[in-house]
Amino acid sequence: MAMENKKEQILQAYQFRHACKEFDPTKKISDEDFHFILETGRLSPSSFGLEPWKFVVIQNPEVREKISSAAWGQKQVTTSSHFVVILARTKADLTYDSEYLSTLFNDVKKLPEAAKEGLTKAIKRFQEVDFNLESDRAIFDWACRQTYIALGNMMTAAAQIGIDSCPMEGFNKEQVEQILKEEGIMQGDFGVSCLVAFGYRVNDPASPKTRQTMDMVVDWVK
Ligand SMILES: Cc1cc2nc3c(=O)[nH]c(=O)nc-3n(C[C@H](O)[C@H](O)[C@H](O)COP(=O)(O)O)c2cc1C
Repeated sequence: MAMENKKEQILQAYQFRHACKEFDPTKKISDEDFHFILETGRLSPSSFGLEPWKFVVIQNPEVREKISSAAWGQKQVTTSSHFVVILARTKADLTYDSEYLSTLFNDVKKLPEAAKEGLTKAIKRFQEVDFNLESDRAIFDWACRQTYIALGNMMTAAAQIGIDSCPMEGFNKEQVEQILKEEGIMQGDFGVSCLVAFGYRVNDPASPKTRQTMDMVVDWVK
């Protein structure tokens, strides 16, 4: 495909994507398409490559009802084809000397000893000095920031294949975490970062997309 066409198609997907408020519950995303969406989340970049996330796909209607009641009753939770709770890892897993990092470096990245030592040192300096990530909340919020990259990538990828989505922060974090714990869905060193629903829209967006102009949001230093 010519580059100009490709750019046009990508921008069309950005225009197509909107925060869908209600999905058609009878229209289901195919397994193959949903796997494609998840794959763009899995392949997303993260600080130091720590992949501090888990994508929990909630298809159980009773669990969705419970989550909806802790998420301002928003219809996206119950009407979407696929509903994802994005979890972020907490301090116990993300501190430079944690077991999770050690397993990730050894078993996933298969780093040689010297590389592992160098990376661990860099993460320690980053966490303790450069970014001052020592409180539980600071380190969890750092993990959440990474998950938003995966969130954005998944929504854009979905839009490129004609699938609608809605990112959601409109929920009570403590209540949703309580539900996930009670249901045995979330254990240990995770917290809820955000929610995202995927499916097919019932209605087109109520109004055209509005954004500030390029001049308002971009400064150039030349
Ligand atoms: C992190 C985040 C959380 C959001 N939470 C909600 C939400 O809980 N419910 C909702 O309807 N829209 C939610 N939105 C959608 C925004 O309101 C929407 O993206 C914004 O108004 C721009 O509109 P557009 O996405 O349709 O272009 C959220 C968006 C983001 C990025």
